[in-house]
Amino acid sequence: MRTPLIAGNWKMNMTIADGVALVDGLKSQLAGVDGAEAAVCPPFVLLKPIADALAGGNIKLGAQDMFWEAKGAFTGQISGAMLQDVCCSYVIIGHSERRGRFGVVPESWEDELLLTFGDNDVVVNRKVLAAFTYGLTPIMCCGETIDERERGVTDDVVSSQIRLGLRNLTPAQVASMVIAYEPVWAIGTGKVCDPAEGNRVIGTIRNEVRTMFGDAAEAIRIQYGGSATPENIADIMAQPEIDGALVGGAALKPSFADMVKAAAAR
Ligand code: 13P
Repeated sequence: MRTPLIAGNWKMNMTIADGVALVDGLKSQLAGVDGAEAAVCPPFVLLKPIADALAGGNIKLGAQDMFWEAKGAFTGQISGAMLQDVCCSYVIIGHSERRGRFGVVPESWEDELLLTFGDNDVVVNRKVLAAFTYGLTPIMCCGETIDERERGVTDDVVSSQIRLGLRNLTPAQVASMVIAYEPVWAIGTGKVCDPAEGNRVIGTIRNEVRTMFGDAAEAIRIQYGGSATPENIADIMAQPEIDGALVGGAALKPSFADMVKAAAAR
């Protein structure tokens, strides 16, 4: 049985005071809840105070990105060793808000920005490998854009992200990690993916993992992400292939605890 993971991606939100107040509340709401695992992924500068606030509870800490080198002249970057130092368990890698796209010709300054973050599949793979070096569990994101969905290439896009992102990993590493399927068009839009369709794509991802790593596919946890809320989490969790959720906006509220409880009750 795979234990569902409900992880909150706070993105670029929260002050130290607001974040600590939120996790203080979550910690008491989730005390004694088992059957699902909870994690919060605050911005880098909040990691240490949030780690202190989480001490003694059952909520794990994650970061939203990392660089693959251990230390050195890399202005603005944060290493896996630093994340380990502040007690992170998880690290989100390759979120669509950080991924660049090969072959995208910038047509607007928003396109330029997308390309600037530039986490392509090679970068994602390096970061995933580096996460394991520092004892972190990667949550590797994948997912198609609306344009890719409308062109009917969803499965190809996602399968390619999986093949390239998981290169050179061992089956044991793959079995222990997490993938988040986040259709880009469902993120922050309120347009949740139909749970049955999410289940289908996640099944495709699991098949790709099975082709590459055999039985590790039965152990790896594959989450859904994109407009997941306390209202729709039960429908999402009713799908057999879906092992939890990566939650954005709804993770900034105390009712995030209800999503963890719903996953635990499945
Ligand atoms: P929302 O839940 O706000 O749609 O964000 C999803 C997400 O991107 C989580 O990583």
